[in-house]
Amino acid sequence: MKIGIIGTGAIGGTIAKKLVAAGHEVKVHSAGEYDSLKKRAQELGASPSTINEVVSNVDVVIVSIPTKAIPDLPKDLFADVPDNVIVVDTSNYYPFRDAKIEALKNGKVESIWVAETLGRPLIKAFNNLLAHSLEYGSKPEGAEGRIAMAVSGDDDKAKMIVSDLINDAGFDAVDAGSLSQSWRHQPGTPAYCTELNVTELKEALADGIKENAADLRDLAISKLMEHTTQPSHEEILALNRSLFPKNPKGL
Ligand SMILES: NC(=O)c1ccc[n+]([C@@H]2O[C@H](COP(=O)([O-])OP(=O)(O)OC[C@H]3O[C@@H](n4cnc5c(N)ncnc54)[C@H](OP(=O)(O)O)[C@@H]3O)[C@@H](O)[C@H]2O)c1
Repeated sequence: MKIGIIGTGAIGGTIAKKLVAAGHEVKVHSAGEYDSLKKRAQELGASPSTINEVVSNVDVVIVSIPTKAIPDLPKDLFADVPDNVIVVDTSNYYPFRDAKIEALKNGKVESIWVAETLGRPLIKAFNNLLAHSLEYGSKPEGAEGRIAMAVSGDDDKAKMIVSDLINDAGFDAVDAGSLSQSWRHQPGTPAYCTELNVTELKEALADGIKENAADLRDLAISKLMEHTTQPSHEEILALNRSLFPKNPKGL
């Protein structure tokens, strides 16, 4: 497929690498100078693109930038992009890091806010695994212990296409329902960055409690900040899992 990715950081860059390796044609755009984008694109096996090129002549656009940067994208970015082009949102909102976005602070489902801000329906995916899991946790289809990723949205066909891309990236996909249900894989839920298999992820998605998510998200951050050195991937994973003792991989 032809894929445009906005953001070449830990998530966008890793998705680009995995999808290039799976045989997709990938172009990328990021905020910095064109020369550094060109260098990064070369590392990823992708083509560097302007913001308008990255959404043109593609089947899927993956938006993988910090939540606070979403309103900075051009207002008319998708105006001429045909309806059948799928837009994917990978974002997670952290108030300590992102701008104080009132609607999100008040509990609006994050990807609904992103869809409204971009003026475009979208699929939420690639948000519920840590960048380290995405980079190093991929396995071939059918492999034992393959990690699962949640995908939400209101268009079943688009979700199936995104699920195929998730599979190509080395993960099983679990349909988490409509976009309004996508809070089930936002930060502070048992499905969020806990590295589960399909059966476990389905259970975790069902177990989330919307009203508790923001407090648990902030608790996880404050516990991580207690570390005097950068916590390892295993420590972050263990902390996330410990917040949900009922989970198969909880305490
Ligand atoms: N890191 C994780 O473990 C993780 C896991 C799941 C989901 N996520 C979510 O995925 C999204 C991306 O995260 P990340 O960790 O990849 O972030 P990151 O490493 O900080 O990379 C962010 C990327 O976004 C680009 N960018 C920023 N503002 C932009 C703009 N206005 N226009 C175009 N590009 C812009 C940056 O460009 P430059 O390179 O030019 O600065 C950079 O390439 C975030 O919403 C994050 O919450 C992160």
